[in-house]
Amino acid sequence: MVALAGSASLGLPLLSVLSGTANAQNISNPLPIPELLENLDKTGKSATFAMDVRPGNVEFFKSKQTHTLGYNGNFLGPTIRVKNGQRFRLNLKNNLQEVTTLHWHGLHVPAKWDGGPRQPVPMGTEWNPEFTIKQEAATLWYHPHAMGLTGSQVYKGLAGLFLVEDEVSDGLDIPKTYGVDDIPLVLQDRRFFNNGQFAYVQSMHDIINGVVGNYLLVNGTLKPTLALQKSLVRLRILNGSNSSIYRVSFSDSRSFQVIASDGGFLESPTKMNSILLSAGERAEVLVDFSDLKKGNEINLHVAQIQGKRFNAMTIMAGEQSKPKQAIPTFLRQFDRTPASSASRVRRFNMETMGGRGMGMMGGRGMMGGRLTINGKRMNINRIDEQIEAGAKEIWEIANRSGMMMKMPHSMHLHDVQFQILSRNGQPPQPHEQGRKDTVLLMPGEVVRIIIRFGDYKGVYMYHCHLLEHEDDGMMGQFEIT
Ligand code: C2O
Ligand code: CU
Ligand code: CU
Repeated sequence: MVALAGSASLGLPLLSVLSGTANAQNISNPLPIPELLENLDKTGKSATFAMDVRPGNVEFFKSKQTHTLGYNGNFLGPTIRVKNGQRFRLNLKNNLQEVTTLHWHGLHVPAKWDGGPRQPVPMGTEWNPEFTIKQEAATLWYHPHAMGLTGSQVYKGLAGLFLVEDEVSDGLDIPKTYGVDDIPLVLQDRRFFNNGQFAYVQSMHDIINGVVGNYLLVNGTLKPTLALQKSLVRLRILNGSNSSIYRVSFSDSRSFQVIASDGGFLESPTKMNSILLSAGERAEVLVDFSDLKKGNEINLHVAQIQGKRFNAMTIMAGEQSKPKQAIPTFLRQFDRTPASSASRVRRFNMETMGGRGMGMMGGRGMMGGRLTINGKRMNINRIDEQIEAGAKEIWEIANRSGMMMKMPHSMHLHDVQFQILSRNGQPPQPHEQGRKDTVLLMPGEVVRIIIRFGDYKGVYMYHCHLLEHEDDGMMGQFEIT
């Protein structure tokens, strides 16, 4: 565990938050699977979808209605599934009482359809992005990204999965029946007030540490049960939390095979017993449950490095146990970009400026400029980095959070999938050797990544994906020219 700034009570004098399990619904509830969004183009040649963003209500606790936000529903959004090469179209209606955006996290997408803070969708209006999918099979996701509102809107429920498939994913002998043996898991912790409302408070403490919760939702549900239908299961895990970093494992410490990182398949599966995912990161894993007998139960464990451990989900074996299905030893040819091909190196320091101690001063404005990249806070009128289309570059990113305020950060880039060259001078572990769009930086860590920038010209974001840090300005803009 890292020593994080402040104490649990600091900055939260007004909060009376729910704790314990007494109020939680303890009837076993089946794991909800977000529905696949229907492609309105029946020929399948292109993919055309319609969604609206709306307020809703969810009863997370008995007799308490929590005010939420959702896409086409009360909480979270449907899973969008497309194929590489498809023309993609969406009609999005903003039925909220505030501005939003819809950003495609991990997608190579024209800058004007990126859905970042430069593409606001005002309340009551529609947004109609249209572009061609040009990338390998991967588990991506979407979420709002309006200036200063990302954290609160994601917290209330705005997030969904975006799956890209291609010939490789279609051809591999791995589980691929959505909701049956290809299971999405959106992990998010939440904190609630006693009245059942989300306790999303941007106090000084919460900006610095991130809003970290004491209840864990899996696909929007507390403590669900996954009843296995197959003995070999593919889990597509998204750390969809605002600022938590999760270590995911099983209660019996069973091993699993990691087959994909943020941007798609690894070259070959890599065996692990637990995997660390920072907010925004994804992993696809294959888990063999054929040793379990009908009715046996194990738990999915999710441990925040920030402190709480959750029995996030019960996994219950069914009739399914069959002889072991072989797992392919090779997944896809991986095009490694050598460090020597980079045309330049840029350095990014993720820093906490000021260091006057925090908490004493109260409100946000007082300590302006705390969280910075290269000493700067986000300014939408400033382009921080100019990059030539197609350039290959090394970015060296350092978490320089100091003695006073040690905190994790991450670095996420829009539009690209990069490769990690080194972590603290060492080659990354096998599961970090694939395509990545978000990388975790623990206090003091230095990570070198290599990026091949895309062909679309325009302005994109890079930022810490701890959403409270991002909203506070730990973000910059790069322009592809
Ligand atoms: Cu997932 Cu700029 O964000
Ligand atoms: Cu993104
Ligand atoms: Cu950060």
